[in-house]
Amino acid sequence: MSRILVTGGAGFIASHTNVELLNAGYEVIVLDNLCNSSKESIRRVEQLTGKQITFYEADLVDEDVVEEIFAKESIDAVIHFAGLKAVGESCKIPLRYFDNNLCGTLNLLKSMEKHGCKSLVFSSSATVYGKPATVPITEDFPLSVSNPYGRTKLIIEDMLRDIYQADDSWDIALLRYFNPIGAHESGMIGEDPNGIPNNLMPYIAKVAGGELEQVNVFGDDYDTPDGTGVRDYIHVVDLAVGHIKALEKLEKHPGLVTYNLGTGVGYSVLDIIHNFEKACGHKVPYRITERRPGDIDACYADPTKAKEELGWEAVRGIDKMCEDTWRWQQKNPKGYLA
Ligand code: NAD
Ligand code: UFG
Repeated sequence: MSRILVTGGAGFIASHTNVELLNAGYEVIVLDNLCNSSKESIRRVEQLTGKQITFYEADLVDEDVVEEIFAKESIDAVIHFAGLKAVGESCKIPLRYFDNNLCGTLNLLKSMEKHGCKSLVFSSSATVYGKPATVPITEDFPLSVSNPYGRTKLIIEDMLRDIYQADDSWDIALLRYFNPIGAHESGMIGEDPNGIPNNLMPYIAKVAGGELEQVNVFGDDYDTPDGTGVRDYIHVVDLAVGHIKALEKLEKHPGLVTYNLGTGVGYSVLDIIHNFEKACGHKVPYRITERRPGDIDACYADPTKAKEELGWEAVRGIDKMCEDTWRWQQKNPKGYLA
């Protein structure tokens, strides 16, 4: 398995995964419509690794284009990152999310089957655990969702389980990511959200950089040690390495496997702000505001299964996550457009 199609390959997690893929000797073919990313990330990955990426600016929702790429390229396995991912936006425009994430995935799967390419790593999310009854979360926890974005992840997981049930020659890894943050330590690639960030870490980075005034901490009355929400933040490079481990697992024909990719450690919103202050060397102003609808108290992984079966574990701690985010922010205050 050497030629990997990376859908959504210009995005945040994919760009870091591309570095690991290229460094591990894989050939990378990227399909991305750049709806939430920039071609500059591809260029920077090439610069970082000294290797070439084959890039198709294409929309997965366009069945003919996807089919053309499969006919032209000989693809051994697919890592499927492409998708829309903003929870709040998905509640406002659910149809767009269903069309993009579900129809895009269907087109991909149909072309894969037609061309006999049956190895797939799918970007799922801890969001499929809904509001977990307890933490840490193991892979066998009940699944439920509370927003259209999460529904697309769960529907795709269900589709993949059905496909495998019908044809066990597929090899599928469902990777449930917890909260990816950080950036490559070179400061050349990182997270570049459009407009005002929805997620905590990019928001903190922009406050620390002086672009936004203060962090809004969404509630301090949660059932957590300091009252603010607790999450399992994972360095994006650790997450990227998890994909290489998953590909290696697929090569051994495991069938369908599911893994949590998290650290197993929960940090509160205030923990993250204070750790970021250490990294950037100055105060990060914040104020406590109302809870954000739909947020839960605490969410963190039990990553034991990935450690035992993939030989993978997160090794980069919270200090490194904050330092690398800050380096990326300082070097690229306007993201890839600068
Ligand atoms: P991202 O937005 O940076 O990357 C997604 C990429 O997919 C973008 O480059 C976008 O342009 C592309 N894309 C979207 N729709 C497309 C389409 N129809 N055709 C072609 N390209 C398309 O997001 P990310 O944070 O790197 O997330 C990657 C994947 O991981 C997503 O599926 C996301 O749902 C999942 N995930 C992300 C998080 C997170 O917090 N970042 C957590 C859990 C799961
Ligand atoms: N938060 C703030 N202020 C902000 C942004 C976030 O206080 O400006 C808090 C939230 O209330 C939460 C924590 O910071 O307690 C993390 O919030 P994020 O928005 O960064 O991340 P979420 O845990 O809400 O969700 C993320 C992704 C989802 C994914 C989920 C699990 O956005 O797509 O992780 O993987 F499903």
